Amino acid sequence: MWGASTSAHQVEGGTVNQWSEWELAHANELAKSAKRRLSNASNQDAIKGQASDPHNYVSGRGVDHYKRYEEDFGLLEELNMNTFRFGIEWSRLEPQEGAWNIEAVEHYRGYIRSLKARGIEPIPTLWHWTVPTWFEAKGGFERKANLRYFDHFVQKFADEYAKDLAYVLTLNEPNVYVGQSYAMALWPPQQKNYFLCAKVYWNLLHAHKRAYKILKSKNPSLQIGIASQLYNAVPKRPYSIVDNLAVKVSTYVWNWWFLNRIKKHQDFTGLNYYFTTYYQNFLQRCNPAWPENDLGWYMQPEGIYPLLLELDRRYKKPIIITENGLADAKDIYRKWWLEQTIVAMQRAFSEGIALKGYLHWSLLDNFEWADGWWPKFGLVAVDREHGMKRTVRPSAEWFGKYIARARGKREVDGE
Ligand code: BGC
Repeated sequence: MWGASTSAHQVEGGTVNQWSEWELAHANELAKSAKRRLSNASNQDAIKGQASDPHNYVSGRGVDHYKRYEEDFGLLEELNMNTFRFGIEWSRLEPQEGAWNIEAVEHYRGYIRSLKARGIEPIPTLWHWTVPTWFEAKGGFERKANLRYFDHFVQKFADEYAKDLAYVLTLNEPNVYVGQSYAMALWPPQQKNYFLCAKVYWNLLHAHKRAYKILKSKNPSLQIGIASQLYNAVPKRPYSIVDNLAVKVSTYVWNWWFLNRIKKHQDFTGLNYYFTTYYQNFLQRCNPAWPENDLGWYMQPEGIYPLLLELDRRYKKPIIITENGLADAKDIYRKWWLEQTIVAMQRAFSEGIALKGYLHWSLLDNFEWADGWWPKFGLVAVDREHGMKRTVRPSAEWFGKYIARARGKREVDGE
């Protein structure tokens, strides 16, 4: 599988959920604090203007993907991709409790049908951090009793679409969500409460297990997983017991705790890879200073290799890379990142790892949550000021040709 990933809220436009409400309430404040927050981002000049503008922090019209999805699927074809990950937005299907929006139900039916007609495998995600405002008002995932509302949504999804699908992702990165929302207090509902953090994590675990059962009972052959954000932790001094201990503890908490508990409720492992972190002493981060992407994240693309090995050793399930990419507005590093990642994947593959697919984050420039619009993750640039014009970046052109060769499509490049 070669493809790209998106999430509903980050591209569709016009979504109304707990995130969109939070954006409107916090855009001014985020713009004011941009300078302080972004002090370690690499391309200061490029972001200064946009990051201190409140409009940057409102998802608003998105990149109009809800209306232009046919055009965007055309881009997937242009890049020779055969798989696409996208979000099914709960707040669209069920804008009021128990009241299903027929237009939205039919929209996603047409969406899935169109992908399949083009020979592109659809991989929907059911929860990518956004929920309907009515669900949030009831306490969202903070209350175990509320899981029944998520069950209803999953049941509706299963009834409408499960028979037409081969793959589903239930949750996206529960670890990132609880960390950002309940420990760092950076994302809605901005709580710094470790008890709640653990509770929401626990409830999400059960939300997944319940969803797994609902989906399987509708379509037993459906392959179900979650998209996990896992990082490659490295002891700065390989001989140091302390550095090694730091790696063991932190990866257990961040990478493995959740996955260990859903072992029997996953058919494949979804891996989102962005980070390698070096530890010295107890949890003191000491990454090399360079190279960094536009968000100031240290880049070590080949760090995906040890993770692929470890995932295979631990869970013995097929692996799909469900996200992988970088914020790189000038497209300086993207081709290098892709090349390094491909080498790492080939090594893993040659060792017999059941790596089934690679989905790049992202197909399109999109709304990067609390950082808003300025970080550019797209293989395809989107100019929101000029009619949402899509432009394939040079790295993506290269990648598209690579995919054609990898898939043995001989017509490309006259081969
Ligand atoms: C998330 C995406 C996000 C990307 C880049 C992942 O953690 O699933 O929604 O845009 O990282 O930060």
